Amino acid sequence: MPPTIAKAVPSTYAALESVLVSEADIKKRLKKLGAEIMELYGEQEITAIAVINGAILFTADLLRHIDNPIRLDCIRISSYRNETRSTDKPQVLGNLSLDLDNRHVLLIDDILDTGKTLSLIVSMIQKLHPASVRTCVLLDKRGRREVEFEADFVGFQIPDKFVVGYGLDFAERYRNLPCIGVLKPHLQNPPEWA
Ligand code: IMP
Ligand code: MG
Repeated sequence: MPPTIAKAVPSTYAALESVLVSEADIKKRLKKLGAEIMELYGEQEITAIAVINGAILFTADLLRHIDNPIRLDCIRISSYRNETRSTDKPQVLGNLSLDLDNRHVLLIDDILDTGKTLSLIVSMIQKLHPASVRTCVLLDKRGRREVEFEADFVGFQIPDKFVVGYGLDFAERYRNLPCIGVLKPHLQNPPEWA
């Protein structure tokens, strides 16, 4: 007997109502973002910290456009569960493995929304006495800010819509989409496969 598929998960592109940022737009912007970062840091070494899982794809592609010496670490945060809104208290899960003392830290995240996640991580990093801390996000939903926070490098400003793709998830799905898109409304409620 053939195996039965327990839960029907919609295929990625079919789940999108619209594409907000295309794969080509991302590629073009990342090249420029890499150049901006190189210009600011000059010949300095950068300690990049990716906020995973969301920033995995963005970080991997962006760092290939930066020619400085780079050390890379990751930090895991849980701020969303299966909902499309932030929880009040993002939590840091696990520790950094690189020392940050007197280092130039570049924190990389997928999206700046309420600002709670990045302001929490920045204040945590500041206690480790880095030489500098800067932040880089692929997307910025400026209209949603609940705490004052601006990133030093921003890929795209986007409207207040829940987006998925290129690392961004809904209930851990859709991270593998090569573009950024808006989920169809009926898929934005925690579905039975979550
Ligand atoms: P903040 O703490 O509200 O700024 O939330 C930042 C985190 O929430 C990001 O790192 C994302 O993981 C998640 N997030 C915010 N908006 C979206 C979205 O539209 N789609 C997917 N994840 C999002
Ligand atoms: Mg995230």
